[in-house]
Amino acid sequence: MNSTVSDTTTEAFRLAMRRFAATVSIISTTTEDGACHGMAATAVTSLSMDPLSVLIAVNSTASLHGPLSEIGSYCVNVLHATQRKQCEVFSSKKDREKRFDSGNWDIKSAKSPFLIDAQANIFCTVERMVDCGSHTAFIGLVDEVRVDNSVAPLIYLDGGFLKETEAAFRLPHGVGAHGNDAKGNARQLEGIEWL
Ligand SMILES: Cc1cc2nc3c(=O)[nH]c(=O)nc-3n(C[C@H](O)[C@H](O)[C@H](O)COP(=O)(O)O)c2cc1C
Repeated sequence: MNSTVSDTTTEAFRLAMRRFAATVSIISTTTEDGACHGMAATAVTSLSMDPLSVLIAVNSTASLHGPLSEIGSYCVNVLHATQRKQCEVFSSKKDREKRFDSGNWDIKSAKSPFLIDAQANIFCTVERMVDCGSHTAFIGLVDEVRVDNSVAPLIYLDGGFLKETEAAFRLPHGVGAHGNDAKGNARQLEGIEWL
């Protein structure tokens, strides 16, 4: 696809993408035989507030792709800064069938398995699938959301993970979106609150 694009542009695109600081999530689903499937992903974005919807991009070669297309529901488990190991397990081909042994997964209470101590769990029903070259965009309508009190995402940037201390914030109850950092200092965030 798009074979007219030069190698230079391809490399420049890759480098441009490395400049997006992206929160890592695990996309999870269960097939009818009860098997759990999951994959680490950063191509996850809010799509609209009305209806509540998200978009995830999944490589057609990923083991999750088939189950997701077949079942049509998934959970976006938004990883905590401390959950780097889960990202590694869910992006490595090694011991793929043991992925759900790592971490605190609830595989029974909801339609899709969810990581209990993730920062947030967003349960979706696939509304539309759009193929684009190597990937498929799965647009999901949001059915239910669980959120944790902490705001401390696992962030992937420029081919690596941000250190836990750089990402960790904890919002005390009653504090607005711009709360305190892990040491209780006023958080160094300024500007526009969008979402
Ligand atoms: C930080 C990170 C982010 C990733 N984001 C995506 C993504 O958004 N979409 C995707 O298809 N693969 C993504 N991957 C790659 C998959 O996690 C990886 O290829 C996985 O092993 C594929 O699943 P499989 O081993 O079950 O085939 C990412 C990997 C890492 C480490």
